[in-house]
Amino acid sequence: MPMKIVTVAGARPNFVKIAPLLWEMRRHPSLVPILVHTGQHYDGALSDRLFTDLEIPPPEFNLGVGSGSHATQTAEVLRRLEPILEKVKPHLVLVVGDVNSTLGAALTAAKLGVPVAHVEAGLRSFDRTMPEEINRVLTDALSDLLFVTEESGRQNLLREGISHEKIHFVGNVMIDALQASGASWESSSIFTRLGLEGEHPYAVLTLHRPSNVDDPLTLKNLLEALQVLAHHLPFVFPVHPRVKPQLLRQKNLFWPRPDSGERLPSKGVSCLDPLGYLDCIALMSRARVVLTDSGGIQEETTILGVPCLTLREKTERPVTVTHGTNRVIGTDPERIVKETLFTLEHPPHTSAPPPFWDGRAAERIVRVLLEYGASLQDSLIRQCGEKAGVSR
Ligand code: UD1
Repeated sequence: MPMKIVTVAGARPNFVKIAPLLWEMRRHPSLVPILVHTGQHYDGALSDRLFTDLEIPPPEFNLGVGSGSHATQTAEVLRRLEPILEKVKPHLVLVVGDVNSTLGAALTAAKLGVPVAHVEAGLRSFDRTMPEEINRVLTDALSDLLFVTEESGRQNLLREGISHEKIHFVGNVMIDALQASGASWESSSIFTRLGLEGEHPYAVLTLHRPSNVDDPLTLKNLLEALQVLAHHLPFVFPVHPRVKPQLLRQKNLFWPRPDSGERLPSKGVSCLDPLGYLDCIALMSRARVVLTDSGGIQEETTILGVPCLTLREKTERPVTVTHGTNRVIGTDPERIVKETLFTLEHPPHTSAPPPFWDGRAAERIVRVLLEYGASLQDSLIRQCGEKAGVSR
């Protein structure tokens, strides 16, 4: 009997993670992946573009959850996913990452008694003010199979009392996506479109954490640091829709018209619409430094060998610091300027990638899923046998 796996994704980083999983699952006829898009991200730039870039098939279901408060978004996933799971009757629900859709889907499945697999389990910032941290802790508590990207994840789960049998150290599917699409992003036209060909030095900035962009004073401090740094080299800033309204009110930011052929100025901060996956990786791959508050970008720069400065107090991905190019520098503007100038002068040495970040994480995950499916089938046969024995 084929194993039906409802795979749930809702926000931009989720789409990158499910792509290699879907590619791999489709190679095994005994697995039937059924894709549910929660609709948490609905803009073309945050959703459709990623589906195209990563060759993800259209979802079988779209819940159309959209924007809202954390409670509303999570509750809408619960409300809208439940009837689908009741109808489809999957053997497993697979969730990825740490967004509201992840928790909503895991909770819906667990309440219906459907086993849950969590890809990217165990990461902890130990900062409960981050919405993602709440989502991580709760999703892991509900999961039956926990796939971790780094040793810290395994240790965190064991400390939280999760049985070692449920934990599988498989590596990082984000890196699978990055490596598998190498040929495509290496030939991206973003450099010519932005006038960044040749040895043109530039830096990349991304910001979207509520703690950085929702508080006007923190955002003002960050932008002040950026203006100082932009005297040294130009910054390219693909802007998340969450941040755009605040930025439109700022002076000293340059907004080139999309695809107008307009070149970026040689200094200053240029704001762009959100980039597709391939353009974003391409842009980062040749940057002198990337400043970010994103989780995934800390991982991608580690493999690209590009210096990354994380504008947060903590990271839930410590392996990007111990094995990668990442440094966590907080949000103090003076420190940001000092650390960025230092990094430009003294780029970090690159070392061997973190264990299992080798482009084969999805393969390992699918192997575990196949074994799990076989064990479900065995226990079903045993139960049927026992029932038959009792009724005889
Ligand atoms: C979400 C995740 C975050 C992840 C990020 C990646 C949670 C709690 N947060 O944050 O972990 O790193 O996605 O981008 O799940 N908006 C649009 N168009 C869209 C989606 C959002 O305009 O397609 C705007 C809306 O104004 C919305 C705001 O962005 O209210 C925030 O979106 P939301 O999905 O709530 O959180 P993100 O900040 O994107």
